[in-house]
Amino acid sequence: MQTVDLLIRNIGQLATIAGEGPRMGPAASELGIIENGAVAAIDGRIVAAGPESEVLAVVEPDSDCAVIDAGAAVVTPGFVDPHTHAVFARTREDEFAMRVEGRSYEEIAAAGGGIRSSVRHVRAATDELLFRNGARALDRMLEYGTTTAEIKSGYGLSLEAELKMLRVISKLAEHHAVDVVPTFLGAHEFPDEWRDDRDGYVTHLIDEIIPLVAREGLAEFCDVFCEEDVFTVEQSRRLLLAAASRGLRPKLHADELHASGGGELAAEVGAISADHLVCVSDAGIRAMANAGVVAVLLPGTTLSLGKRDFAPARKFVDAGVPVALATDCNPGSSMTESMQIIVSLASMVMRLTPAEALVAATANSAAAVGRSGSVGSIEPGKLADLIVWEVVDYRAIPYHYGVNLTRMVIKRGAVVSGESPAAASTDGGSR
Ligand code: NIG
Ligand code: FE
Repeated sequence: MQTVDLLIRNIGQLATIAGEGPRMGPAASELGIIENGAVAAIDGRIVAAGPESEVLAVVEPDSDCAVIDAGAAVVTPGFVDPHTHAVFARTREDEFAMRVEGRSYEEIAAAGGGIRSSVRHVRAATDELLFRNGARALDRMLEYGTTTAEIKSGYGLSLEAELKMLRVISKLAEHHAVDVVPTFLGAHEFPDEWRDDRDGYVTHLIDEIIPLVAREGLAEFCDVFCEEDVFTVEQSRRLLLAAASRGLRPKLHADELHASGGGELAAEVGAISADHLVCVSDAGIRAMANAGVVAVLLPGTTLSLGKRDFAPARKFVDAGVPVALATDCNPGSSMTESMQIIVSLASMVMRLTPAEALVAATANSAAAVGRSGSVGSIEPGKLADLIVWEVVDYRAIPYHYGVNLTRMVIKRGAVVSGESPAAASTDGGSR
């Protein structure tokens, strides 16, 4: 018998999503559902997950074990949000209103708004303000079921301000219940002081900033905004290869607003993921399939920018590319912390089935941030990062949209949002 300090029983649908991610082909829609299931964990790690009778036969709740009766509802892995810009100094609802009135994202950026406006505010902000804002975003993510989130720098765009952001991100990683994956995005935009020497800024990133970020261990990944009028394919390639040589694995904002060869470049440099991909070419999709690049799709951004064409999710699925989902949480183009609304949009507008959308937001998004070994599915050895839902059929998760359907969110075996569980009774918690 294995002693446990967390036991969830009476689970109507336990969506384990078990198996090594990322998932594509037929596996991309297999939730591994166990009816009348249970999950048990100790010290934050899962030790058993399966039919309740089998789990109860091998575990023994310790005296203060938290015992949760799921009430025949759904339990899934916690969401992994693999693409956010959740550390910033202030929101940009002024630009949102301008967009609603018909100005484009590019026009607003050209007029001094956009990313460069966030850069001005981040440069002037204290570490405390950035930390507070980041922590508030992570609090909201957790309430809506996200237990691991990637956060990018990229609103500093100078040595000093990028390091400031990355240090705030590592402090959030240390102090917040959500596990944080740090990504360096010094190539998010050209800062004003380098606008007349764009290649010079790329060289500055390669020679000065990336080595320091790598040496201080401040990021795991290096991302670039490869886009018309931002970083060219050639500049992006230089940056990502330089970062990779220092141990920062490439990621890419690819083909968001125009088809610019981003998908192809992500495949060429061995990126772990290519993100956005609204305008990806068929050749880009094929290249990603061959290279095993995860496609991180961000339907909240398309919706928020008021555009009608969403990333071709079904084409990726059909081509055998693993599809993941993310919020893109940022003050300019997608102001949401909720992976639930993203899962809904994935089904409603990108036509991923509810099962495909849930795989994309868990196992595949874990793969997009190199966390397949520890999160994204419910199986022994993985972190006990779980959502106990209010619904009894998993298809209700995308269907019932715009409200919070989590009943409890569990991070590393502890209930961190929602109802508190009952302690076990001395007879072993058989309630
Ligand atoms: O992922 N595309 C570039 N970066 C962000 C937007 C950041 C901003 O507008 O502040 C994105 O959509
Ligand atoms: Fe982004």
